Amino acid sequence: RKRVVVFISGGGSNMLALAKAAEAADFPAEIIAVISDKADAGGLAKAEALGIETFAFVRKDFASKDEHETAILEALDALSPDIICLAGYMRLLSGTFISRHEGRIINIHPSLLPLFPGLDTHRRAIEAGHATAGCSVHFVTEGMDEGPIILQTEVPVLAGDTPDALAARVLTVEHQTYPRALRLLAEDKVRMDGGKTVRVEG
Ligand code: GAR
Repeated sequence: RKRVVVFISGGGSNMLALAKAAEAADFPAEIIAVISDKADAGGLAKAEALGIETFAFVRKDFASKDEHETAILEALDALSPDIICLAGYMRLLSGTFISRHEGRIINIHPSLLPLFPGLDTHRRAIEAGHATAGCSVHFVTEGMDEGPIILQTEVPVLAGDTPDALAARVLTVEHQTYPRALRLLAEDKVRMDGGKTVRVEG
């Protein structure tokens, strides 16, 4: 089974969905640790309750972004993960960081990328008058929410939707989509090659 470290900043519901999926005997990956940039992230307690090792690296405890990332990279060296899943990790990783784990970092984003990278995606989708919204799991590259897409799931935008109502509908499909995408990567059925997602048959 592939060794996975999940990065979080908040409630960790996607981390939990990955950890629950990984409890199945036939799932090709295990969650070996959770790393947070917030000491009080709700997801830390959820991970601990499942017996998953947790780490908090709080940005203000470090003099610079570089020192913060160096500390996280050192922890990763000890954990030697095969795959890193960003799950509501609200910090942009540097090119240096990403190049150390090239092609092995994936992220979930609550929009149908390339639409609405960044924050406040649900309000923006509603204001744009779109009939559909959704989530994307993609390989992480240096640009924010820009890497090649592995899987997307659509949901309808309903008349009278508030950003919160739409967020809840999207979050439900995030919890299904992220484990499916992790399975594809862990089974080597997808990889990033030349800035694109390549599907490997068989
Ligand atoms: C999720 O909706 C995730 O897609 C989003 O944050 C939420 C985290 O929820 N991520 C981003 O916006 C990244 N740009 P969770 O902590 O309950 O998984």
